[in-house]
Amino acid sequence: MLRPVGFQVVRPVDDFADYIPFERTQAAALAAGLPVGEYIDREFNVPGSTQDTIDRMAALGVFDRPIARVCELGPGSGRYLEKVIATCSPRSYEIYETAAPWRDWLVDTYHVTAQPTDGHTLAATADRSVDLVHSHKVLNGLKILDTCRYLDEIARVAAPGGAVVFDVLTERSLDEATLRRWLDSGAGYVTSMMSERFAVDFFARRGFAFLGDFFATSMPGKTHYLVFERQPTTGDRD
Ligand SMILES: C[S@@+](CC[C@H](N)C(=O)[O-])C[C@H]1O[C@@H](n2cnc3c(N)ncnc32)[C@H](O)[C@@H]1O
Repeated sequence: MLRPVGFQVVRPVDDFADYIPFERTQAAALAAGLPVGEYIDREFNVPGSTQDTIDRMAALGVFDRPIARVCELGPGSGRYLEKVIATCSPRSYEIYETAAPWRDWLVDTYHVTAQPTDGHTLAATADRSVDLVHSHKVLNGLKILDTCRYLDEIARVAAPGGAVVFDVLTERSLDEATLRRWLDSGAGYVTSMMSERFAVDFFARRGFAFLGDFFATSMPGKTHYLVFERQPTTGDRD
């Protein structure tokens, strides 16, 4: 009806239905006597899985650099955010998050900066300004071109010597047994995959070295983490 006159009804990006409900999750964590991150690990993943990812990031040298500025895409409950802040005490921590109640709670609780979030850019963040850009279980829930838009933005904002960490579903996280578990689960929230080669080449073309990879549980399957470092180029440190 609206199209002929040039209008379209569009679902807002700030859509709470995309993530677990804030109040119910907070209440359930309280009732279980657990910090919200540990509760989410227990309920939706496996206990200790968040810390395991942080440990694997550390093993690849992610925290072996001065980290003054961090940017995280889609922090949700903040289960990684909390541990990253505890590990490297950054001077500033900015988030791009579409779920408003969680975003506001993270700002109040951890004093992070919530940037305006359009769903595919890091427009409020300057080029080459961030020492650690990271994202967990977000990119494989986006449409492939939005994932690529975010990857392009991640590459843009990473500082020389800065680290980039994110996970995607690759061919190596969709072996037959794992794919069978996804199919049997009826899950619908994982919507895209990317080949490992594509991701590594994408960052190589933008001047990043590949530091390594690891897998993490993402129930009922697993997700593939890739870790990069932006190479300093002539003039970057001047
Ligand atoms: C599956 S949850 C993962 C949350 C958190 N990273 C974790 O692993 O516990 C996906 C998160 O990304 C957020 N999100 C979804 N689409 C987004 C987008 N286009 N830009 C930024 N955040 C987004 C959701 O609100 C949610 O917090």
